[in-house]
Amino acid sequence: VYTILKEGGNFIVKKSKLRIGRLLLVILILLGLIFMVSRLIIQTSNQATTSTPEQPEVSQPSIYYYEEANKERYEAYKKENPELSEEEVIWQVNVQLDKEPYTDMTMISKEDENNLVLLVNKHYRYQDDFIPYELASLKNGKQVTPETKEAFEKMVEDAKKEGIYSIAAASTYRSIDFQRGLYDRYVKKDGQEAADTYSSRPASSEHHTGRTIDLMGADGTLESFEKTDACPRVHQNAYKYGFILRYPKGYEKITQYQYEPWHITYIGIEAATKMHENNITTLEEYYAKYIQHQPN
Ligand code: DAL
Ligand code: ZN
Repeated sequence: VYTILKEGGNFIVKKSKLRIGRLLLVILILLGLIFMVSRLIIQTSNQATTSTPEQPEVSQPSIYYYEEANKERYEAYKKENPELSEEEVIWQVNVQLDKEPYTDMTMISKEDENNLVLLVNKHYRYQDDFIPYELASLKNGKQVTPETKEAFEKMVEDAKKEGIYSIAAASTYRSIDFQRGLYDRYVKKDGQEAADTYSSRPASSEHHTGRTIDLMGADGTLESFEKTDACPRVHQNAYKYGFILRYPKGYEKITQYQYEPWHITYIGIEAATKMHENNITTLEEYYAKYIQHQPN
């Protein structure tokens, strides 16, 4: 343990070896301590992860109408509309509501064009040569599809039994050419921006379906329908006959038209009842949740 050194002719004795030995011992103890503490940390962290199972990620694919291809559009639309829920963002993008009206429109295919539940709006349009598969005349000569006529006449008859005689059809089926003339006249009168809030551009009007009926009041105008006793009766009972109020109040952002208390559309009793029972107010929402995709 002692080191004998020769310094300037004298022998000196140093305890260097002893010091080194002690130092090594201290280092060894320290290393041992570090090893034990680190094992203890690893053990407790392992216990922690095994005792709390991992939480599943809240993921959009759990919404049955989520479409992976629309992911980026969902994110962009959510940024623009932060007040919307995740579900609202998804179904609204799925029916193209993130797009500018009348741009990049979806063409209704020949296969789909007579479907009972069909979106015809500022994002979905008919091809220019579309005509309904069949038209029948109401008592006043106005034309609608046969199943629309049957449902409408039943609704009128049932209302009469309750003393309501004022349900009357004003505007029903319109050809694409007719709508073109109508829309152009409105644009000349009020300007395009205003006209777009109440009149469809040709090939985009629901009136092309032959399943839409505008109801009028006693003076023959659409505006006066709201004041009739027929109006609340129709709004509350239309679904029982397969009709829906197509442009409801408060949903202008979805339908992209002003409130039209007079405009009803036949979509069949099954779909109209489903909308009623599930509190779905717009055809856009129903289309996204029951036609594009179906719940389990
Ligand atoms: N008034 C409705 C929106 C139409 O023109 O079809
Ligand atoms: Zn209408």
